[in-house]
Amino acid sequence: MFNVIASGIPETEMPGHWFTDRELIQLVVFVRTLGRVAPQKAPGDPANGQKLYAGKGGCVQCHTVGGRGGAIGPDLTDIGARRSLAYLRESLVNPEAAAPDGFLEVQLVTRNGQRITGVRLNEDTFSIQIRDLSGGFRSFLKTELKELNRMPGKSPMPNYAGVFTSNELDDVVAYLDSLRGAQ
Ligand code: HEC
Repeated sequence: MFNVIASGIPETEMPGHWFTDRELIQLVVFVRTLGRVAPQKAPGDPANGQKLYAGKGGCVQCHTVGGRGGAIGPDLTDIGARRSLAYLRESLVNPEAAAPDGFLEVQLVTRNGQRITGVRLNEDTFSIQIRDLSGGFRSFLKTELKELNRMPGKSPMPNYAGVFTSNELDDVVAYLDSLRGAQ
């Protein structure tokens, strides 16, 4: 590790020669302590969480894991590697607070009175593309719409506070935490 920090990694953007030897030793000691922080262990049962995910929670309808499921919400294949336990729990009991960047719920009313709720995929001056809540891709010219309401801070994801017991929430969080991407 000392050598990597001292000389950089050839042909990468990791440069060398930034530190004195003394600083280097301090740095190596510090980096070693980082690796020692025990990862937080999720208290729940991931196997039961997986059942709740597929069954009672109906999460599959909106989320993909390993390429299977719906596409209304973000892909969760590596969610455990990207998010803390606290965030994962929050996303279930307070989905509107934990919405990731880039997700915007929109509510549209077409000229012939059809109301559609979805997630915005793309929008320009003349048109908007959304994924509706059945997972379908829809594209509209703005001239076809009577109303276009952007709902920042709203989420089509249901709040699971009243659906799961506290133990079930622990289990679902443990399952999500176990999703660390393709191995
Ligand atoms: C009706 C569709 C729908 C259902 C059902 C649903 N979600 Fe979501 N979920 C979303 C959408 C849309 C987002 C992004 C906006 C947000 O965070 O509220 C999201 C966000 C999330 C996030 C945050 C992802 C990130 O990258 O930050 C997690 C975690 C999550 N959902 C887990 C679940 C789990 C677990 C279930 C089942 C218990 C579930 N969702 C059910 C639509 C849904």
